[in-house]
Amino acid sequence: MLLIRLGIILGMGLTLLRLRPAFDDAIHDGVDILSLSLGIEAPYLQDPVAIGAFHAEENGVMVIASAGNSGPLPSTAINTAPWISTVGASTIDRTFVSTVLLGNGKAFQGSGISLSNLSHSKIYPLAFGKDIATNLSVVSQARSCSGGSLDPRKIAGRIAVCITSNSTVSYETMILAKAKGNPTATILPTVEVPRYKPAPIVASFSSRGPGPLTGNILKPDVTAPGVAILAAIVPFGEKPADYGFMSGTSMSCPHVSGAAAFIKSVHPTWTSSMIKSALMTTASVYDNIGKPLKNDSGYYANPHEMGAGEISPHNALNPGFVFETTTKGYLRFLCYYGYSNKIIKAMSNTNFNCSKNSSHKLISNINYPSISISKLDRHKVATIVKRTVTNVGSVNATYAANVQAPSGLAVNVYPKKIEFSENKKKVSFKVSFKSKDPDSGYNFGSITWWDGQDNHVRMVFAVNIVQ
Ligand SMILES: *[C@@H]1O[C@H](CO)[C@@H](O)[C@H](O)[C@H]1NC(C)=O
Ligand SMILES: *[C@@H]1O[C@H](CO)[C@@H](O)[C@H](O)[C@H]1NC(C)=O
Ligand SMILES: *[C@@H]1O[C@H](CO)[C@@H](O)[C@H](O)[C@H]1NC(C)=O
Ligand SMILES: *[C@@H]1O[C@H](CO)[C@@H](O)[C@H](O)[C@H]1NC(C)=O
Ligand SMILES: *[C@@H]1O[C@H](CO)[C@@H](O)[C@H](O)[C@H]1NC(C)=O
Ligand SMILES: *[C@@H]1O[C@H](CO)[C@@H](O)[C@H](O)[C@H]1NC(C)=O
Ligand SMILES: *[C@@H]1O[C@H](CO)[C@@H](O)[C@H](O)[C@H]1NC(C)=O
Repeated sequence: MLLIRLGIILGMGLTLLRLRPAFDDAIHDGVDILSLSLGIEAPYLQDPVAIGAFHAEENGVMVIASAGNSGPLPSTAINTAPWISTVGASTIDRTFVSTVLLGNGKAFQGSGISLSNLSHSKIYPLAFGKDIATNLSVVSQARSCSGGSLDPRKIAGRIAVCITSNSTVSYETMILAKAKGNPTATILPTVEVPRYKPAPIVASFSSRGPGPLTGNILKPDVTAPGVAILAAIVPFGEKPADYGFMSGTSMSCPHVSGAAAFIKSVHPTWTSSMIKSALMTTASVYDNIGKPLKNDSGYYANPHEMGAGEISPHNALNPGFVFETTTKGYLRFLCYYGYSNKIIKAMSNTNFNCSKNSSHKLISNINYPSISISKLDRHKVATIVKRTVTNVGSVNATYAANVQAPSGLAVNVYPKKIEFSENKKKVSFKVSFKSKDPDSGYNFGSITWWDGQDNHVRMVFAVNIVQ
């Protein structure tokens, strides 16, 4: 049996200074994959995660990290270096419903988890958070029952009504108006709803692209389950082995790490960029009712929200072909981004030289499994990007390209057909983008290569049209 070593670095209690040794230890321990549920906002070479991950990548260790929980605002993704697999969060097809039964017989259903056993207990008096606050707490915090704002003695024997909306006054007035006398309620045991539809949905907290450092690499890369995940939790300073439902990209990241370990166990010779490519090009963009994946507001999710889509680990075992990104490619990326030769040499411990023509625009040309162009001048001729792909499927295979582009963007692939054979394991193609529309802003689409059989290799793109 093949053993895949999975390293996990967690954020809790880990200072930035101790991050570098954590990476070095993991590399020294011989891990294959590093799962990082942590991150900070910083330029690449001031970010210990990006630097540590670069060294891991140089040593053949795949690094998978959380995109962050600062959504749904755009440009909030972290861990966006191209040598990191950046993971957003989505819901799963299981949810929990709890019913609040008021004294007057009215029932309200909502999502939530009640661990108490009130079904056989008496009803309890209701109390607003602000009415059972500690003497010192701020009213707005007590209203939403935020941590430490309620007085334990006053809350004993009551069900607290916590109002998280900002329109606090109107809600309280509404509830008070309906509640005559002394309002009471009970909370019925939580009911699990399996096979919940639609799922997945991109979680609203999941951090979004475009990458705040460069819009020329598409981020996040993929999404994975990250809402109400049953996880082992270790409360600070308490005894371990507790379980709880947790939400966040800290939960979705390890799902991708597990999927990567699964792929690595079947294809032990694959590099981290091959595994990342396989996960991206086979990701699903449909939910469990067969509709395009949506965001939390019911709109179709775009690649800045979900990356290439929701991972499908089983499909990723046979991706057909892959986009390989090499350490050299990542070094070129740092040159194009604007770092000096000297800094790059010191960081990477290599004798690599930046080419004279390095420019930010060329980042789009890094051999990445998706395409992003942060500035496509509306009046200019087409922008062309190049990719080279490596066959990992049948020795003889022919793929044809099918472009899905929005009406404002002319996208052409050439050649439109690529062929692999015994002597031809790598093939290059180019994609040209030209604006057709007076509207500015990001345009999204995809190029799907199909071999006429089971393999669909889907590459997403994001192109920002500017004046
Ligand atoms: C809930 O209460 C009922 C009735 O008192 C009891 O039979 C059951 O074991 C309780 N369940 C839990 C989880 O405490
Ligand atoms: C809070 O205020 C009440 C009434 O003003 C007082 O009796 C009580 O001692 C105070 N409690 C604390 C913890 O200060
Ligand atoms: C509520 O609204 C106020 C003022 O409009 C704002 O300062 C505050 O941050 C809001 N609170 C929340 C939790 O959204
Ligand atoms: C969902 O997408 C729509 C349209 O792109 C956007 O306006 C909205 O802010 C998004 N909502 C969330 C919660 O992501
Ligand atoms: C980089 O440039 C230096 C100085 O011009 C040269 O000595 C070195 O061999 C070059 N390194 C590579 C990898 O080409
Ligand atoms: C940049 O320069 C290198 C040689 O240093 C060359 O191979 C490459 O084609 C050039 N790229 C562009 C876009 O001009
Ligand atoms: C690939 O095609 C060549 C030429 O048609 C043929 O000789 C070879 O047997 C084929 N290889 C496989 C694995 O099918």
